[in-house]
Amino acid sequence: MAIRKILHYPDSRLRRIAEPVERVNDEIRTLIDDMAETIYDAPGIGLAAPQVDVAQRVIVIDISETKNDLHVFVNPEIITHEGEQTLEEGCLSVPGIYDNVTRAERITVRAKGRDGKTFELHASGLLAACIQHEIDHLEGKLFVDYLSRLKQQRVRKKLEKQQRLAM
Ligand code: NI
Repeated sequence: MAIRKILHYPDSRLRRIAEPVERVNDEIRTLIDDMAETIYDAPGIGLAAPQVDVAQRVIVIDISETKNDLHVFVNPEIITHEGEQTLEEGCLSVPGIYDNVTRAERITVRAKGRDGKTFELHASGLLAACIQHEIDHLEGKLFVDYLSRLKQQRVRKKLEKQQRLAM
């Protein structure tokens, strides 16, 4: 396993639309394992493959405090959604920025797991928000896109400055 480098906003590669995975093979399983190691190292609670420069529809999430409850979603699709909730979100691709985003409160997601088998999961609260946040990444969308234009400009300036300092 290996920790992969996470792309940071406003990198244009975060805007690509990810391709469906045709088959969950060794390459995809390695990607999943590396993504898991990457969130545990960061640390973070979720990661989508485009964030590590792989334009494929793969997501990993672990919202547990003990960091031993990994959810893997390959080709995830939200098939039902209900209600509304507003939670403060952050993103490993937008370091140091946190803001409120309103999303569905309860969802049903259908996806394939690491074993290639299709499953359905009912999720609510933080897990539901996190799944929606990560699926957005597969569409080239970031949580900052939900913020006002003025806030987006501030985030962009702040991150561009951080990146210059980090060079
Ligand atoms: Ni994110």
